[in-house]
Amino acid sequence: MEFCFIGDPKLKQQSEEISFENDSKDEIQEIIDNLKFTVVATRGVGLSAVQIGILKRIFVTNYGGEIKVFINPEFMYKSEEGIHDDEGCLSIPGVSAKVTRPSVVTIKFYDIDGNEHIETFEEIMARIIQHESDHLDGILFIDRLSPARKSVIRKKIDLARKNRQKHIEYFNTVIIPKIEFVKSKESKS
Ligand code: NI
Repeated sequence: MEFCFIGDPKLKQQSEEISFENDSKDEIQEIIDNLKFTVVATRGVGLSAVQIGILKRIFVTNYGGEIKVFINPEFMYKSEEGIHDDEGCLSIPGVSAKVTRPSVVTIKFYDIDGNEHIETFEEIMARIIQHESDHLDGILFIDRLSPARKSVIRKKIDLARKNRQKHIEYFNTVIIPKIEFVKSKESKS
């Protein structure tokens, strides 16, 4: 498994919808498992498939003691009212900034069995879901900043980009063993 850090062209690409007819369930399950293990091992609050190098419209959230899976997500409603709050991204190490996003969203998505779900989320979950959905459209949270705000963190973004190879090495040597550990614990329980 690879992990995509800023500077990786995949992060700018549009991810493809899952086809419940053509994509094998085993393959979809494998993507989901890798996302779950990785989000736990990295202590992230969310992770999209593109971040582990797979351009498919799937992401997971890891918030409030629960991991939720979203396949082919589609927003049905976004509130006018927005919240301005801190955001970061596992693919852009060392960078955080305040981003304004709608505070309430309603989203349609599918589970592994192809069942449709419609749910409403607010506050932090709404933020995580929008951040992860953006990844599926090749959008990073820093793309949502005004030029003035982006210029404030420009140096940190450039540093994350410059250190991409180091971040990949760190992922391979430190995070991958953690993922293997999480996996082995899961398979025993
Ligand atoms: Ni992210």
